[in-house]
Amino acid sequence: MDPNASGLTKRLAEAGQSHLLQFWKELGPKEQSDLTLDLQGMDFQEINGFFKKTTETSGSSNQEMDARLEPVPREVLGSVTRDRESLKDWEEAGLHCISQSKVAVLLLAGGQGTRLGFSYPKGMYDVGLPSHKTLFQIQAERIFKLQQLAEQKHKIKCCLPWYIMTSGRTMQSTKDYFSRNSYFGLDKNNIIFFQQGMLPAMDYNGKIILENKGKLSMAPDGNGGLYRALRNQGIMDDMERRGVEFIHVYCVDNILVKVADPSFVGFCVKKGADCGAKVVEKTNPTEAVGVVCKVDGRYQVVEYSEITLATAQKRSADGRLMFNAGNIANHFFSFSFLRDVVQKYEPELQHHVAQKKIPYVDTEGQLIKPDKPNGIKMEKFVFDIFQFAKTFVVYEVLREDEFSPLKNADSQDAKDTPTTARHALMSLHHRWVLNAGGHFIDENGRHVPAIPSLKDGTDLPIKCEISPLVSYGGEGLEELVKGREFHATLMIDGNGVHELVKNGV
Ligand code: UTP
Repeated sequence: MDPNASGLTKRLAEAGQSHLLQFWKELGPKEQSDLTLDLQGMDFQEINGFFKKTTETSGSSNQEMDARLEPVPREVLGSVTRDRESLKDWEEAGLHCISQSKVAVLLLAGGQGTRLGFSYPKGMYDVGLPSHKTLFQIQAERIFKLQQLAEQKHKIKCCLPWYIMTSGRTMQSTKDYFSRNSYFGLDKNNIIFFQQGMLPAMDYNGKIILENKGKLSMAPDGNGGLYRALRNQGIMDDMERRGVEFIHVYCVDNILVKVADPSFVGFCVKKGADCGAKVVEKTNPTEAVGVVCKVDGRYQVVEYSEITLATAQKRSADGRLMFNAGNIANHFFSFSFLRDVVQKYEPELQHHVAQKKIPYVDTEGQLIKPDKPNGIKMEKFVFDIFQFAKTFVVYEVLREDEFSPLKNADSQDAKDTPTTARHALMSLHHRWVLNAGGHFIDENGRHVPAIPSLKDGTDLPIKCEISPLVSYGGEGLEELVKGREFHATLMIDGNGVHELVKNGV
C-alpha cells in the first residue's frame, strides 16, 4: 500500500494534488487503505479539467442575458387551465402509453438535503401527515395506483418501472428502507436503484479539500450527474430491454408530484416532443425561481439572479409576467433523446460552480469550520440538456395542485418546510373531497368554508388525507364522499373513510 510503490505519489504530483498525502504517516493502516482506495478511483486530470473549465467560463452580464432571452412561444405550451378541452385526450394518451409499459419514472434522490438537516435520505422524511407516510411511500403508492388505473382501463397487465438515483451516501439506506417496507407493494424487480457520481470540493486554487487527515471532501455531482450515471451504470440498456419509450424525471422533495402524470406524458407524446418541462406560473417578479425560456433560440432554464429586475418584471399583453414558466424540475424525455444525451452530449455539459463554506484540515492538521465561503462544489443540472432538444414543449400546471417542495427545516419565516408540504397535500385532498361532492362541518354542524382563512402559525382547520392507493389525482371519490358531511380529520384509505377526530377537538 506504499503510495510511492503504487505510483500514487507520482500521479498526485503530476496533477498538483500532492497535499492529499501530507498526513499519510499519521494515518493508521485502515485509514491509509481507505484513502488509497478513494484516490485510486479518481481521475485527477479530468477533475482538474472540470475545475479549469468551470472557473474560466465567465457568464454573461445580466444585461447581456436580457438581450438574448425570448419567452416560451404559445404553440409549444400546453396548460391545464388554458387548454381544458384537450386534457381528457392527453390523459387518455398517457394512460394508454402506461398500459403498454412504455413509460418509466426516474427519481432524482441523490442530493444531500443539507438545508433540511435530516440524517437519512430525504425521501424517508415524514412531514407529519395523519398516516405518517414518507415522501417515498406517497410516490410508490401513486405509481401503484397509476399502474392499476392503466390496467383496468386497457384490460392488460402493465409495468411502470421506477429508476431511483441515489448517491454513495444514500444508496444503502434507501435500499434498506425499501426492502424493510416490502417495496410498498410494488414488484421489487421493477425498482432499479443506481448511483450517481461524486466530485471533490476544491479550494479557489484548484486544490482538492481534505475533510480530515485521511478523507477527501466529496459531494454528489449535481442532479445533472444523472446522465453520466445512466451511462456508467448501464441503465439505458435496462430501459431498452424493457421497451421503455418515455421517461418522467422528477425530484424526491416535491410532496405533490404526479409521478408519471398521464396528462403530461400524453401531451408530450401527442406533440411529438423529445423533451418537455412541467412548469408553474411565476406570478411574483422577484420570486427566486428559474424560468424556462429561450436563450439565443435554444431552450434553457434561466435563474432569477442572471437577469435584470426590469426583465423579470416585463409583462405580456394578457398581464402575466413575460418570463413566467417557473421550472419545477419535472421533465419528460423520449428514450431516444435521453440515449443521445447520454451517449453524445453529456461531455459537453458544463459544471456550475457553487461557492460553499467547506470544513477542512489546514496544513497543521487542525479542523477548520470556515464562516465564509472558502471553496467550490461543482454540479451539473438536470435541465442543462434542454438545449439539445429538437422538439421541446412546456406544460403548465397549477402550483397548488402539483408543487410543494421540502427544502428547509421548520422555523418561523422559513419557506418550503415540512409544515408547508403537509398543508399543501392536505389542502389538495380537502379540495378533492369538495369537488367530489363531500362537505366538512365544524363542531356546531356548520359547513366549513371551502377556502379556510389561515392565520400565520395556525394549523389547517381541516385535515384530510387520501391514500394514493384510493385516488391518484382526485378520481373515484364520489362514491365515497358525495353528499356526506365530515368532521376535522378525515382519512380515506384502502379500508374506507375514517374520521379520526370528532367535533374538531
Ligand atoms: P436540491 O438542489 O434542492 O438539493 O435538489 P438537496 O440535496 O435536496 O438539498 P440541499 O441543497 O442540500 O439542502 C433538488 C433535487 O435534486 C436531487 C435532490 O435529491 C432533489 O431531489 N439531487 C440534487 C440529486 O439527485 N443529486 C445531486 O447531486 C443534487
